[in-house]
Amino acid sequence: MAIGVKALPISYVAHVLGIVAAILVLIWNISFRGGLAWEATNKNLIFNLHPVLMLIGLIIIGGEAIISYKSLPLKKPEKKLVHLILHAIALILGILGVYLAFKFHNESNIANLYSLHSWLGIGVIVLYGIQWIYGFLVFFYPGGTSAIRSESLPWHVLFGTFVYILAVATATLGYLEKLTFLQSTGLAKYGPEAFLVNFTAIVTILFGTFVILTTLSQTPPEDDYSYSAI
Ligand code: HEM
Repeated sequence: MAIGVKALPISYVAHVLGIVAAILVLIWNISFRGGLAWEATNKNLIFNLHPVLMLIGLIIIGGEAIISYKSLPLKKPEKKLVHLILHAIALILGILGVYLAFKFHNESNIANLYSLHSWLGIGVIVLYGIQWIYGFLVFFYPGGTSAIRSESLPWHVLFGTFVYILAVATATLGYLEKLTFLQSTGLAKYGPEAFLVNFTAIVTILFGTFVILTTLSQTPPEDDYSYSAI
C-alpha cells in the first residue's frame, strides 16, 4: 500500500523532528534533571540515561533505520547494510537503556516491573530483538531461499511496523509516568518542565508518525528505493 505523497520530503520532516526530539530529551535530563551518569551516589542521574537512550537509540535511530530504504540515495545492498547496522545500534542502545532502568531501581531499592510501561517495554525489546535476528538470518546471513525471503518480507514489514508503533506508545507512557511521579512530589503542574516533557512526548509521536508515513509514501519509479528488493 502506498499513499500519494513523495517519500523524500516526508523523510526530511522525520529527520528534523528526530533532531528536535533528541535536543528536547537532552535539555530535560541535563538542564532540568541534573545530568547523566552510569555510576553516581545520586541514583536519579542513572535513571536519566534511560529516557535519553530509549529515545535517541530505539526510537530515533530505529526510525532512521526504518526510513533508510526510502531516504538514502544508495544501491539496495548498501541500504540493506545501513538498515541492519542502524537497527543493531538502536537495539543495543535500547538494551542498555532498559538495563539502566533496572540498575536505577535495584540501587534505589525500588521494585521492578510493576507498571504497564515496564511490561510493554520488555515486550518491545524482546520483539525488536526477535525481529532483528530473524531479519539478519533470512535477508542477510546465511540468507533464506528466495521463496522464504519473498514470503517473509511482508511479515517483516508488518511486524517491524507493529513493534515500532508499540515502542513509540511505550515511550509515551514512560514520559507520562515520570512526569506524574514528579508532579505528585511537588513539580509545578503547569511549570516549564511539565511543558517540556509533554512537548517532548508530542514530538516523539510526530516523529514516529512521519517514520510510518515515509514507509507508506511513494518513490519515483526510476528510484530503486522500495522494500521489495531486500
Ligand atoms: C521504547 C522505549 C522504552 C522502553 C522499551 C522502556 C522500557 C522500560 C522498562 C523495561 C522499565 C522497567 C525497569 C524496571 O522495572 O526495573 C522501564 C522503567 C521506566 N521507564 Fe522506560 N522505557 C522506554 C522509554 C521511556 C521513556 C521515554 C521514559 C520517559 C521518562 C521512560 C520512563 C520510565 C520510568 C519512569 C520507569 C520506572 C518506572 C517503571 O518501572 O515503570 N521510559 N522502562
